[in-house]
Amino acid sequence: MMKVVKLGGLIWLLLLPLTLAIAGAPQDNSRIEARIDTLMAKMTLAEKIGQLAQYRDISDENLALIRAGKAGSILSVRGAQATNHVQKVAIEESRLGIPLLIGNDVIHGYRTIFPIPLALASSWAPEWVQKSATVAAQEAAASGTHWTFAPMVDIARDPRWGRIAECAGEDPHLGSVMARAYVQGFQGEDFSASTAVIACAKHYVAYGAATAGRDYNTVDISEQTLREIYLPPFQAAIDAGAITIMSAFNCLNGVPASANYFTLTQILRQEWGFGGFVVSDWNSVGELLNHGVAVSYSEAGKKALLAGVDMDMGSHVYNQNLADLVTNGELAVADIDQSVRRILRVKIRKRLFEQPYVEPEREAATVLSAENLAIALQVARRSIVLLKNDNHLLPLSKKLKSLAVIGPLAADRYTPLGSWVCEGRAEDVISVLAGIKQKIADKKILSVQGCDIAGKQTDGFAAAVAAAQRAEVAVLVVGESANLSGEAASRTSLDLPGGQEGLIKAVYATGTPTVVVLMNGRPLTINWTAEHVPAILEIWQLGDQCGNAVADVLFGDYNPGGKLPVTFPRSVGQIPLYYNHLNTGRPPAADKFTSKYIDLPVTPLFSFGCGLSYTQFDYRDLQITPADFGDSAAIIASAVVQNTGDRSGDEVVQLYVQDVIASLSRPVKELKGFQRITLAAGDKQRVEFRLNRNDLGFYDKDIKYVVEPGLFKVWIGGNSEGGLEGSFEIRN
Ligand code: BGC
Repeated sequence: MMKVVKLGGLIWLLLLPLTLAIAGAPQDNSRIEARIDTLMAKMTLAEKIGQLAQYRDISDENLALIRAGKAGSILSVRGAQATNHVQKVAIEESRLGIPLLIGNDVIHGYRTIFPIPLALASSWAPEWVQKSATVAAQEAAASGTHWTFAPMVDIARDPRWGRIAECAGEDPHLGSVMARAYVQGFQGEDFSASTAVIACAKHYVAYGAATAGRDYNTVDISEQTLREIYLPPFQAAIDAGAITIMSAFNCLNGVPASANYFTLTQILRQEWGFGGFVVSDWNSVGELLNHGVAVSYSEAGKKALLAGVDMDMGSHVYNQNLADLVTNGELAVADIDQSVRRILRVKIRKRLFEQPYVEPEREAATVLSAENLAIALQVARRSIVLLKNDNHLLPLSKKLKSLAVIGPLAADRYTPLGSWVCEGRAEDVISVLAGIKQKIADKKILSVQGCDIAGKQTDGFAAAVAAAQRAEVAVLVVGESANLSGEAASRTSLDLPGGQEGLIKAVYATGTPTVVVLMNGRPLTINWTAEHVPAILEIWQLGDQCGNAVADVLFGDYNPGGKLPVTFPRSVGQIPLYYNHLNTGRPPAADKFTSKYIDLPVTPLFSFGCGLSYTQFDYRDLQITPADFGDSAAIIASAVVQNTGDRSGDEVVQLYVQDVIASLSRPVKELKGFQRITLAAGDKQRVEFRLNRNDLGFYDKDIKYVVEPGLFKVWIGGNSEGGLEGSFEIRN
């Protein structure tokens, strides 16, 4: 073993000419590889293994590991001062001075907090999602973060699962478009830029399919479902340049994600050609023991590394076991080297050796800037979904004389931050009440909390009822607190928590026109509200600009145009309920012996893709050219969309297809395209979608991707139900 002396500075002085050459030149691959070779030639086995280990926070123990060259990465250290401090220890006090890769969960904002990902997906506006990720990256990078553990590209068909809040919902096409937008936003054109952060697509894979919606639970799905539903957003993220992947906690068909050679190596590297590195989710290497696939941490480490996990997040398993495994001959040095190279490659490409530190002045000038907050407002407005608006109750007139603002979330400044707060602060958040106050005079507003989010007390109802009785309109802001969704927050009931539905009923009973504003991290079973209350806005958790965005929508300064990225069930008993299901041999019908429930309709409360506007859109003249694919690689499906109302508005035009007869049963509908357009009152536009032959296939019984000839149905419309219907054929 080489003697460990602190030569970091000297070594880098010797490497300086090479370093400078690389800094000033495009980072061509052979130079990067040569640089990795030079560096690795100097590394002891312990230092190599150190690059594969990631720890959380600054502690004396972690600083000692960094000094000893036993840490390649650190997470949850944020801010220029703290990141510079920890980086300085790595560079100046470890023998080789290899900089740390500093990772953080920058999920929907760093300091400026944007809507949660489920809300961002409701915008169906990838260009705005990308902008939000660009801002998040600029703020995070200025504060010393190199790497974000985002985007979360899991598909979720089960709203009991709290992490549905963190993803783009139930559809693989929408999920893939969003995945791409996030990666392009975080990484920009080139992730080596000082304003960019490295993206990490997570949680690989099928984590969202947890049995019974219980977090971390077993996943058992067919390979077709894996490939058609859960994998596409990962592939989209990688195609967009995501250079890291996080292996999940769950078991997939009996194999834990962090020991799954099939997904981590065969699919990821051999099929897709992924060239970056894989980090395990927190402690998931250690948890291989609980899964019952490893008898010891040593076996867990061996299995994870050989499956394709390059970096061990948090479990210490690699640091404590890999060296012995090499000594015993159970692992080859080459197995370790392969992962070290992958990690060093990313560090070099990120120019960490040239730019290890950040300037505190830049951090101060970047975070929470007026420009960033302006983008947050734009994005928040686009994320709102109008679920119901009987008799045009909304928008409200600014001239109304009195407005009751009721509910436990009306003045809440913490919940809009969602479950990944990062550096977000409640003090930055505009509550719904504050937003309304900025819109109309204070004296018109009667504000009453009414009840808690989760408590059953009804003593506040009387004041809420009194306020509603005195007001022209009542706005009720209800839903879930931030900790009721996100990680480890699965629920068996999707009803409004506590006594909130009782509060809605009491206010509604006054006869005062009532608007319900839902602030929540998942679909909720709001049957009574949906049936009785005339106007409902789904706002999710909208981030810092929550109140301004909601007030803009309530008073018509912004016409809502979001659509649901996920189905709202009527009851937990219907779950999993998603629009792109297969048919059954007995589709639901009046007959008893058909596929339905005896106690509830089989349909959702609100379907995927639905959402209203203050104006109306008319669809006509569906055209499909050519009507038969013939030899062409693509066809164009289009329809004319007209704004037939009296104000400008946004519509998300959606394209669905069905492969009517195939060798395997196919979904009744699959989203294949969408465009969010803005039309002035009376204006119309022909909206065109290109359908590639290759987009129309599926995985057959032999797991071969095939596009089978036959009839395909097409729909263009404003949601997943109905729409203009046509068809085309693919011939042999
Ligand atoms: C979560 C990940 C997250 C990681 C690091 C885990 O518990 O599942 O999504 O990136 O922690 O904070």
